[in-house]
Amino acid sequence: MAFESYVLVCGGTACVSGGGDSVVEEFKKELAAVGLSEKVQIVVTGCLGFCEQGPIVKILPQGTFYAQVKSSDVKEIVSEHLVKGRVIQRLCYDPAQATQLVAEANIPFYQKQHRVVLRNCGVIDPEKIEDYIARDGYKAIEKVLFEMTPEQVVDEMLKSGLRGRGGAGFPTGMKWKFAMQLPKGQ
Ligand code: FES
Repeated sequence: MAFESYVLVCGGTACVSGGGDSVVEEFKKELAAVGLSEKVQIVVTGCLGFCEQGPIVKILPQGTFYAQVKSSDVKEIVSEHLVKGRVIQRLCYDPAQATQLVAEANIPFYQKQHRVVLRNCGVIDPEKIEDYIARDGYKAIEKVLFEMTPEQVVDEMLKSGLRGRGGAGFPTGMKWKFAMQLPKGQ
């Protein structure tokens, strides 16, 4: 089913301890009250990284970023934002008590980040494997298992420059190459 809007509520530890769970419950209640349960999907996401501003709520497709949301704010988000399409300025992140920044892309904290492994964080429900698969999750392992030879996999690893994080920073590709060259059974 395609939804018209998505309410992403951070389900990371800091946001939950700040009342994120009650924000989710309130969204369920308010969306049902205005008949939007079938049109707006609530997604509880992994940590969005900006824990000090939690609980964080993002609204898609606009990408509106609401910080320090309380359950008492939810009714207004539903009636103003989701029903009437009006951004609630007072809930937008305000870095200098002067300018409210509406979208995550404009917030300095996020502008310096380029997420690779965590690029789906804040977009999908980390407890739903279907969400991950829908965003090409497990594509790499599928390619490795069904399309590549062991030599190609090791070459790819060497090219990636990936290193171990145990202190020595030994290149993972080299380790795999040495292991591959050992006689089988050793
Ligand atoms: S726990 Fe919500 S931003 Fe980290």
